[in-house]
Amino acid sequence: MVKPPVPISVDRFSFSVEEIEGHLRGAPPDERFQKPLEPKIYRLSTGEPIVIRPASREEAPAILETLKRLIDPKYDKDFYHLVAARTYSEILAWYQSRQKDGYVIVGVREDGELMGVVNHRFWDENVAVSLHTIVFRRAERLGVVLYLSKIEHAFDVVGVNEWWATFESPFGFRLGFRFQHVTKPWPEMQHELGGARIYYITREQWEKSVKPYAAEKGWMGERPVPRELLEKTKPLKPASKIEIELR
Ligand SMILES: CC(C)(COP(=O)(O)OP(=O)(O)OC[C@H]1O[C@@H](n2cnc3c(N)ncnc32)[C@H](O)[C@@H]1OP(=O)(O)O)[C@@H](O)C(=O)NCCC(=O)NCCS
Repeated sequence: MVKPPVPISVDRFSFSVEEIEGHLRGAPPDERFQKPLEPKIYRLSTGEPIVIRPASREEAPAILETLKRLIDPKYDKDFYHLVAARTYSEILAWYQSRQKDGYVIVGVREDGELMGVVNHRFWDENVAVSLHTIVFRRAERLGVVLYLSKIEHAFDVVGVNEWWATFESPFGFRLGFRFQHVTKPWPEMQHELGGARIYYITREQWEKSVKPYAAEKGWMGERPVPRELLEKTKPLKPASKIEIELR
């Protein structure tokens, strides 16, 4: 305890937790960064449609329930354990208003089951920060399509100029490698995920080459999503099966 150098009129102040909450949240959500990604369809190799759409906060418990199952050393393969743990904490922080300008996109089966999730957040109107990509069904390029969906949201819907990613796993690194990401100077500049290297692309690269390449490969999805199909994907259900072994 330190005595103030001049007399103070009162001995103590009291604050309500509601007053404190405003400080814990930082700024109120910025609507510029919450412009919705228009839902789209990606078809699995069987022709089954997966709806790629924004998640609402009320859907966070279904996402958390799925991720929680992977937070186990038995999933220490391809970095699923680590990525699930980190994504869990980010989705919880987003749900409980402890993340600045987060955005979450889900891949959902026709019966409402979660197949994959991606998240990112906005540093400011210039830079979007990629957080995580995780799929619960492998070898369908669902991770590729979901990853591209969050870049599309950042550049085409919100209008940032740079996309800053980092990668924790070889399969993740391949996403960046496939889509021309290069590094910022490191360690002078560090990604918020553990101070790792920042791999980035600019809006110009996205528009001139990455998006056209992804579209040619059929990874940008199809629009519009029929209303009945979209409605079937709500409410979101946790994944019933975790299919993460490559056959
Ligand atoms: C990273 C991730 C999202 C990528 O998802 P994805 O793009 O759908 O791809 P998969 O992980 O299913 O990998 C499939 C690749 O393995 C290949 N593959 C499938 N079966 C295979 C086999 N038996 N032998 C060799 N390769 C095989 C596929 O052909 C495919 O490659 P291709 O796209 O060139 O055809 C996903 O691996 C994931 O969720 N990983 C755990 C979390 C993670 O690491 N996230 C990234 C953090 S940076």
